[in-house]
Amino acid sequence: MKYIDFEDKNIIVVGGTNGIGLCLVQRLIELKANIIVLGRNIDKPELKKLKDHCQFFKCDISNSNDIDNTFDHIKNEYKVLHFAVNNAGITAPYSNISELDIIQWKKIIDTNLTGTAHCLKREIQLISQSKGGAIVNISSCAGLQALRMQAAYSVSKAAINMLTQVAAIECAVDHDNVHAIRVNAVAPGPILGGMNNEENLRKNPERTERKLSITAMKKFGTADEVANSVLWLLSQQSSYTTGVILPIDGGFNSGKFN
Ligand SMILES: NC(=O)c1ccc[n+]([C@@H]2O[C@H](COP(=O)([O-])OP(=O)(O)OC[C@H]3O[C@@H](n4cnc5c(N)ncnc54)[C@H](OP(=O)(O)O)[C@@H]3O)[C@@H](O)[C@H]2O)c1
Repeated sequence: MKYIDFEDKNIIVVGGTNGIGLCLVQRLIELKANIIVLGRNIDKPELKKLKDHCQFFKCDISNSNDIDNTFDHIKNEYKVLHFAVNNAGITAPYSNISELDIIQWKKIIDTNLTGTAHCLKREIQLISQSKGGAIVNISSCAGLQALRMQAAYSVSKAAINMLTQVAAIECAVDHDNVHAIRVNAVAPGPILGGMNNEENLRKNPERTERKLSITAMKKFGTADEVANSVLWLLSQQSSYTTGVILPIDGGFNSGKFN
């Protein structure tokens, strides 16, 4: 058995147009998977060179009609899926709960939680037609420990952790020609690129310093380091692992050290 074998497997990456998701798509291209990428901004010039290797669908996961139409299309074209990664996520400007912007709250919950739950529903239906399927949700260290001024984001990611575990126990066994699916999540700490792109970090030096200080290793992680763990959780190398929320956070979740 190859260490990690995705050759000719159908895999969907929801939110694969930027940052961590895009890095994962690039790694999957090297592994010769059939990659289906969902996102709102699929016509960015930097994605052009990837279009020979993956199929892009314009889909806003905060819109349930968009999700259903896109998955109907995918079902007609691919019939089955083998793997899925739910990476799409957004943050909001920092604010205390006493000043919570309810419109922002709804936007984050609609995207990070409801959108992901809806995609997960459609993915489970398609992946249960194949054997050895697996799903990874991208959570956050903010879903494991409370962080000030990020209530909506933290709540959405904590709910993703629970959604992951409910899905894991529901999908853990084969029955009536419906195959088992392993469902896990990763909970990254501060990762360079994407939401933490150089411009954002430079604009907010204090926040950047705080993000560094909450990790035991005192450094940012990379999208490749997240992708390594996602690929492992999808692969047969983790065949007895389901319902796990795996921190990839330079020790943030290990204890108090500052
Ligand atoms: N970077 C970090 O430090 C960090 C830490 C912990 C957790 N995370 C999580 O990791 C994931 C990726 O973060 P990132 O830093 O790589 O962010 P990013 O660069 O902003 O990428 C977010 C991805 O989500 C997609 N997306 C956002 N809203 C969407 C919507 N309504 N419909 C469809 N796709 C949508 C974006 O695609 P379009 O713009 O094309 O729609 C993009 O591909 C997120 O779930 C985030 O919460 C990141």
